Amino acid sequence: MTNKLRYFVANWKMYGHLNSVNSLNKVIKFKKKNKKAKNLKIIYCPPFTLIHPFIQKLKKTNIKTGAQNCSFGSTYGPPTGSINSMMIKSLKCEYVILGHSEKRAKGENDNIINKKIISATESKLKVIFCIGETSKQKRKKLTKKILLSQLSKGLKKVKNKKNILIAYEPVWSIGSGIIPKSQDLENTTNFIKLFLINNMKFKNPKILYGGSVNTKNISLLKKITNLDGFLIGGASQNSNKFIDIIKKTFN
Ligand code: 13P
Repeated sequence: MTNKLRYFVANWKMYGHLNSVNSLNKVIKFKKKNKKAKNLKIIYCPPFTLIHPFIQKLKKTNIKTGAQNCSFGSTYGPPTGSINSMMIKSLKCEYVILGHSEKRAKGENDNIINKKIISATESKLKVIFCIGETSKQKRKKLTKKILLSQLSKGLKKVKNKKNILIAYEPVWSIGSGIIPKSQDLENTTNFIKLFLINNMKFKNPKILYGGSVNTKNISLLKKITNLDGFLIGGASQNSNKFIDIIKKTFN
């Protein structure tokens, strides 16, 4: 039986330096040698400063690289300190994370995220589009309403749906060590999947889960039927832990 959980995305956030490329050796070896790992999509999203070194390092492997954000607009221009989707694509980088709650918390709204998604798909990048409710919204039972709003606003007028992966990341779970109850996660991911198919013209939506994924809770998370993989923060920076998480999803 092939493993349905195929995506393992490492979000390195604002961590890493030039020597960090060496920590990829173990994962490269694992991907090459382990039969079950061959068909997996392992994607590293380091900070901008490390995208080029990571691409160089991963050149002869089939491990992919992604950015953690991009500016919108696909031409050169004046916004100091910005990097657009075309510049990322020109590095042979294939993915970009957009809508991460750590960027939303700094003022990125659905409208900005939507422009970025359009720009990224036009530049032929694959988008890992993050959605998720805060703890306050969860307490007020607003989760579905929030997800629906984030999805419909973020994906407005987006054409190439097959290049969009959805990452459900409850904000309260990120970095907290707490994950949703299995039944809740099953319900929420089912709700997302049905909404994408019925309302957003997705044919075969891919849904990842992110938030405190670790070597212990992966045995519970791997049982969620609607998931196609994971977006992993902290634990992905340690190659042994990252490999361990992946191995534990094997049948
Ligand atoms: P943690 O795995 O560190 O909770 O981070 C999750 C995340 O934000 C991935 O994008």
